[in-house]
Amino acid sequence: MLFETAEEALTWYQSGERVITKAFLDSVPWNEVKRHPIDEKFFPVLLYMRDIETMTERYFAELMKSATGKDPIIRQFMEQWVEEEPMHGAILSRFLEEAGCPQEADWKKKGFDRLTVSYRLRSKIQEWMTLPFGKNFTSVHMTWGAIHEYSTLTGYRRLWELSGHPVLEYLLKAIAREEAKHSLFYWSVARIHLKEHPLRQQLARYLVEKFWRPVGEGVKTEAESNVVIRTLFSGKDGVDMIKTYVNNRVAQLPGFESFTRVTDRIAGAAM
Ligand SMILES: [Fe+2]
Ligand SMILES: [Fe+2]
Repeated sequence: MLFETAEEALTWYQSGERVITKAFLDSVPWNEVKRHPIDEKFFPVLLYMRDIETMTERYFAELMKSATGKDPIIRQFMEQWVEEEPMHGAILSRFLEEAGCPQEADWKKKGFDRLTVSYRLRSKIQEWMTLPFGKNFTSVHMTWGAIHEYSTLTGYRRLWELSGHPVLEYLLKAIAREEAKHSLFYWSVARIHLKEHPLRQQLARYLVEKFWRPVGEGVKTEAESNVVIRTLFSGKDGVDMIKTYVNNRVAQLPGFESFTRVTDRIAGAAM
């Protein structure tokens, strides 16, 4: 699907049927979670994802302060997006609970505390960096968002394939439908903004090449990200999946021809 304007992408996103509804949540066979085994090596992956999904609220607050957050189309998208993401975190947390994975009582508070420290530093840099570029920086945010969403989507798909747990698969397939919509929105708006000006393309390419890190890294340590990457994407199959569904999708954006940064980073940890 190719949208010509950001409004079109927003209309498509808003008019789509909501996936994670009360009816969906009521349909989850929680009492069956324990009846199927799950390899405990997936627990750190699920905990990582639980935290990152939950922390999006804070990212939203940060982004709203920038020129990107003042864009009315993006703001409307993000208002729905910020409701959907923490729900994914809550679903993963419930699954972990049912599967018998210990979770600290104050995991949310701990996560937010870690985030505050990392943001205090980064938002200063970001404020300083985004000011002179203003609206041109929106294409960077959108490209960044597209990489994160496609990575998340691919991570979930890989997780349900590898874990072979039917209830987890049921949950992740629903979550993935929302991630697919987020991915396409970010990617489409990135494409529209990038297309408008070669300067934006150069700026976005430069910053992504230089500063992009896997989703969650920064709040989580590089070592923690690497555990997730290795568990999900070890070997040629895993890296090929990232290449096809994440890296090459980004490489279709204006200014991102022959882009390999995502594949390189994942291969560095997974091979
Ligand atoms: Fe999510
Ligand atoms: Fe998402």
